[in-house]
Amino acid sequence: MEYCKLQIVAIVSLVLLFPVIDAWGHDGHYIVCSIAQSRLNKGAAEIVEELLPKSAQNDLGSVCIWADQIKFHYPWSRPLHFVNTPDVCNYKFSRDCKDENGREGRCVAGAIQNYTSQLIDSSSKDNLTEALLFFSHFLGDIHQPLHCGFASDKGGNTIEVHWYTRKQNLHHIWDDNIIETAQERFYSSNLADQIDAIQKNITTGWADQVKSWESCSYTDTTCADVYASESIEAACDWAYKDATEGSVLEDEYFLSRLPVVNKRLAQAGVRLAAILNHYFK
Ligand SMILES: *[C@@H]1O[C@H](CO)[C@@H](O)[C@H](O)[C@H]1NC(C)=O
Ligand SMILES: *[C@@H]1O[C@H](CO)[C@@H](O)[C@H](O)[C@H]1NC(C)=O
Ligand SMILES: *[C@@H]1O[C@H](CO)[C@@H](O)[C@H](O)[C@H]1NC(C)=O
Ligand SMILES: [Zn+2]
Repeated sequence: MEYCKLQIVAIVSLVLLFPVIDAWGHDGHYIVCSIAQSRLNKGAAEIVEELLPKSAQNDLGSVCIWADQIKFHYPWSRPLHFVNTPDVCNYKFSRDCKDENGREGRCVAGAIQNYTSQLIDSSSKDNLTEALLFFSHFLGDIHQPLHCGFASDKGGNTIEVHWYTRKQNLHHIWDDNIIETAQERFYSSNLADQIDAIQKNITTGWADQVKSWESCSYTDTTCADVYASESIEAACDWAYKDATEGSVLEDEYFLSRLPVVNKRLAQAGVRLAAILNHYFK
């Protein structure tokens, strides 16, 4: 009996420790934060090292998923991971950035502004370790096209499709499956090689676009609205397209969407670094 109880406790705690993750999966966030950290200037690198928990051993990637892990303890933070549009292929802060109770600014774009302001306010009383971890995570989320998707299907969460032979929802395919399938197929399941490949393209094929990715007027604290607009457009052009309820998504979908995912990961990493570099040079 006691043994049985212990087992139940063990199972329940496992479920609590590993809640269903609904954001760029672990690898997506790791990729974004590693790319960003490798591009930091001296001032920004020092701030990041100072703010990271000691246990992270100065590896921003390793704690980039933190904001998903604490959703259970910080339920107020749930709406901050995404923004939904009223089922249209464009985004407007004033119309869309609110939680389900209509509280303004409670969406991923508002959260990015919030945590940027905390980080750059030297008299801030907020926990700046948390601010950095939220900020780094949400900058990844806002680049995942289906984190700026339609309200009616919760950013693809209610669209059931097949990823090859397995049942999966569309949102999860964009958080995890495309990245994982690419990792297995092209990088022998090696995350470091996958990151290297994206970084190589940032300095070659995408090199002449990087300046425009980084450019931001910084008048509105950050350019989060631009990133959200790009995401909903990519969601309409690529994520939702040919992925209706019950579709079977295989090589044709995977191979045509992977370049979009790679570019969004690259843009997120480049921009995360650019914003930190701008404020902490
Ligand atoms: C801003 O950050 C504080 C501290 O984490 C949090 O309580 C608040 O809900 C955040 N608001 C938004 C819109 O991100
Ligand atoms: C700041 O937040 C981190 C992560 O939640 C926590 O470990 C740390 O104790 C907090 N620091 C303060 C001073 O509250
Ligand atoms: C890098 O660019 C090459 C050439 O365009 C492309 O074939 C490859 O898939 C890209 N890889 C990544 C990870 O973006
Ligand atoms: Zn998230």
